[in-house]
Amino acid sequence: MLKVDGNTRLVGILGYPLEHTLSPAIHNAAFNHLNLNWCYLPLPVESMSLNKAIKGLCSIKNFVGANVTMPYKEKVLPCLDEISSCTRVIGAVNTLHMSNNKLVGYNTDGRGFLTALVQDGGFDPKGKNVLIVGAGGASRSIAVTLALSGASELKILNRTWEKADEICSLIKSNFACHIEAFDFQSDLEYFFSTVDLIINATPVGMNRGECPFPADLISRKHFVCDLIYRPLKTKLISAAKERGAKTLSGLSMLLYQGAAAFEIWTHLDSPIEVMRKALEEALGPE
Ligand code: ATR
Repeated sequence: MLKVDGNTRLVGILGYPLEHTLSPAIHNAAFNHLNLNWCYLPLPVESMSLNKAIKGLCSIKNFVGANVTMPYKEKVLPCLDEISSCTRVIGAVNTLHMSNNKLVGYNTDGRGFLTALVQDGGFDPKGKNVLIVGAGGASRSIAVTLALSGASELKILNRTWEKADEICSLIKSNFACHIEAFDFQSDLEYFFSTVDLIINATPVGMNRGECPFPADLISRKHFVCDLIYRPLKTKLISAAKERGAKTLSGLSMLLYQGAAAFEIWTHLDSPIEVMRKALEEALGPE
């Protein structure tokens, strides 16, 4: 059991709404396991109070930091004193850290994805051709991370071509990585045949039975990742397995982006298997 007293250090998650957040379960399990006198709380804040809430948190002596989730990943940027260079390129923050009285912003989404891909998936993206479906914030952070990790070519497929093209411009102006934007009118068959890694960064699949693209485009040579973790076994993951492809579910990325935030705050290695178990329990049976 966590004990809370006058020395307890405070971390939490800022967002709205937060009823379904899994982060408190993951972090409190880790604090408990390491016997740290820390506590992770949901911090639901309405939009008009965001600045006040952040100022208030920063003036609390035992406040260490927070995760930031929808809809504030971009809105918190003006509240920061410092921002890591990679996070500046991504343009969205999911982790805050009070360091030497300064509020520093990080984005651990891309790093979480990469660690999940390498550790749980056994897949090194260096030199690989990658297709990312979707062009929102998650797609952007993963594209930046993959460009930094030496992926040889990125393709962004999105129903709104202009949004995919914005990510391409961002990558081209910061990295020497080949990247192109596509929409669903493109020759999907041809370019699915040219990629090694496929990542679904759209919400399509949260409703059971939906797949972000025709499943028969997947073959056994692909490695398929879905960022969705509810349900854990999406239509895409099931179809990819059936077609002999290797797969990675959204649970891994969620786990490792949390672990990266834990390490920023505590400067300790995260007890990853304890955190994974807590996450699986919090998610409940399929
Ligand atoms: P994030 O949380 O990563 O910012 P998001 O903004 O919810 O994600 O959406 C990510 C992507 O999913 C968007 O690029 C969106 O496409 P548009 O740019 O055309 O809006 C895509 N997306 C959302 N719903 C979709 C659907 N039903 N079919 C296809 N793409 C969809």
